[in-house]
Amino acid sequence: MIPAAQGQPLNWGVVATGRIAHRVTADLARLENSVLHAVSSRSAAAAKAFAGQYGFATSYHDQPGATAYEQLFDDPDVDVVYIATPHARHHEVATAALTAGKHVVCEKPLTVNAREAQELILLAREQELFLMEAMWTRFLPSTRRALEVVRAGGIGTVRWVQADLGFAATYDPRDRLWDPAAGGGALLDLAAYPLTWAVGMLGFPDSVTAAGRLNRDGIDVQNTLTLGYADGAAAQLVSSLESASPGIVTVSGTKGWLRTGSPLYNARRLEYAGPDGRVQVEEFYEATEGFIHELREAGRCIRAGLPESPLMPWHESVKIMQILDDARSQLGVHYENDR
Ligand SMILES: NC(=O)c1ccc[n+]([C@@H]2O[C@H](COP(=O)([O-])OP(=O)(O)OC[C@H]3O[C@@H](n4cnc5c(N)ncnc54)[C@H](OP(=O)(O)O)[C@@H]3O)[C@@H](O)[C@H]2O)c1
Repeated sequence: MIPAAQGQPLNWGVVATGRIAHRVTADLARLENSVLHAVSSRSAAAAKAFAGQYGFATSYHDQPGATAYEQLFDDPDVDVVYIATPHARHHEVATAALTAGKHVVCEKPLTVNAREAQELILLAREQELFLMEAMWTRFLPSTRRALEVVRAGGIGTVRWVQADLGFAATYDPRDRLWDPAAGGGALLDLAAYPLTWAVGMLGFPDSVTAAGRLNRDGIDVQNTLTLGYADGAAAQLVSSLESASPGIVTVSGTKGWLRTGSPLYNARRLEYAGPDGRVQVEEFYEATEGFIHELREAGRCIRAGLPESPLMPWHESVKIMQILDDARSQLGVHYENDR
């Protein structure tokens, strides 16, 4: 492990300058005891513009003989990298970062399949470095409070969970959402959030049944996952790139229920009722983009010398990928990363 000395600022490197990189970097700029050290982009113009917008000290872009991210990982002043490339490149980029001795926070899904996730974890373990899937929903105060209410028995024993996440996305074959080579489709992009809630409330399932519709490029534009549990509990999860939905979670228990506000990946409101039927409402004020909680947790773990976060442990990232692998095989969705 190569933790920064206690109290020393952590120098962050950001890989890619796309949509989520902007939003997460806005929170990185707010994070205490952290420095925006370097950003890398395939394009010189994007790298310079991004560095200028957020105040990075350095930027790197693709050059003959060295990709932008290789140069960023060669920078001895970078302690930890945040990876915001399309899913299909997470494994390749995170492997290069860990090999170069950098701690890694990688966007969700951690990889395209469970094999890739296991390879990254093995490498992080060998290199004695921190690795975390940036499933930001897990770290939000509202999510943690919902789990606290339910785990304390506030709604009795959970018997079913229903969660949806959908929007009517415009078809654009150049967009990673629709591009099979980028790991496109609703399952890898959206289903991870309903799944996060389901496994938080019910644990990992004993069976997974997937149904859905593929487009002519072979990616799923809509999917329904039914998670089954040996004790008869169940979860029904829908994610869609072709139709809009409120994006909420309902948790049903033997003594009450809980419902999140929308969107379920960043809920600012919880409603729940216990055995007396009285509905309680909790609102969550957030002055940031909401990513600060996962970033703060990464910093805490790195400073503490932890290889993984107890809030997003490695084995849970792998189990999530195994569910997605199972669902993809039932749907008939295959990616180049699968071999
Ligand atoms: N946590 C969340 O709420 C959230 C939300 C959205 C997305 N995500 C995740 O974040 C990742 C990125 O999503 P995004 O919406 O930011 O995607 P995006 O807007 O398409 O940006 C991805 C960036 O990755 C870089 N890149 C590297 N190789 C690429 C390639 N072969 N094709 C295209 N771009 C490539 C590009 O940056 P350069 O041109 O600068 O190299 C591109 O701008 C995905 O894994 C997604 O699941 C998370």
